[in-house]
Amino acid sequence: MTVAVLTGVPGVGATTVAEKANEALEERGAGYEVVSFGTEMLETARDEGLVEERDEMRKLPSDEQKRVQEKAGERIAERAEDTNIMVDTHCTIKTPEGYLPGLPEWVLDALQPDTVVLVEATPDEILFRRLDDETRTRDMENTEELATHQDMNRNAAMSYATLTGATVKIVENPDGGVKEAAGELVDALA
Ligand code: AP5
Repeated sequence: MTVAVLTGVPGVGATTVAEKANEALEERGAGYEVVSFGTEMLETARDEGLVEERDEMRKLPSDEQKRVQEKAGERIAERAEDTNIMVDTHCTIKTPEGYLPGLPEWVLDALQPDTVVLVEATPDEILFRRLDDETRTRDMENTEELATHQDMNRNAAMSYATLTGATVKIVENPDGGVKEAAGELVDALA
């Protein structure tokens, strides 16, 4: 089974691109199960009374995040045993204690991804998407910080690839470009 890990800084539009791409893949009879790593973590974190909503998780002590992260990784890996899975997640999570790897060794071991996709846009575009998205409590980062976060994600993605043999694919998602970005993802995953 194929495990595709779809990533991008929060607000870049990775979830939007994943959903659009999967619609096209389903039409071809090659659909994936799209799984949100954040949602899997949220279920555990809520059950344990640690948080009430998803944007609180990256503020938890890093040890708690890692413990909840490991449980989510194991659950998703079980689902990947008999179906193709697109895991909507992050290469790094910006926490008060620094950048936390989204796929540390124990999560990589469980998931064994075939490809790691980085959805990217310009820092200006990401900044405005975050400001426009009233459904979430997004961190406010300036354009330099967003550029650094995207650099950290590229570095992390190549480390994950080196450890697993996965490929790394960069998909640009410029303003108004969801259709084209999704098309590029479909070509990579079909
Ligand atoms: P998660 O659930 O992934 O939330 P997130 O980080 O905010 O990411 P989103 O999926 O909401 O944002 P997105 O970039 O996909 O943007 P969207 O498509 O909505 O994670 C929640 C939390 O879980 C994390 O903070 C972390 O704590 C934890 N977590 C997750 N994975 C983890 C891991 N591996 N390890 C540890 N912790 C983990 O789009 C945003 C907006 O942009 C929308 O309004 C959309 O319409 C718009 N838009 C998109 N594309 C375009 C375009 N081309 N042009 C114009 N507008 C666009």
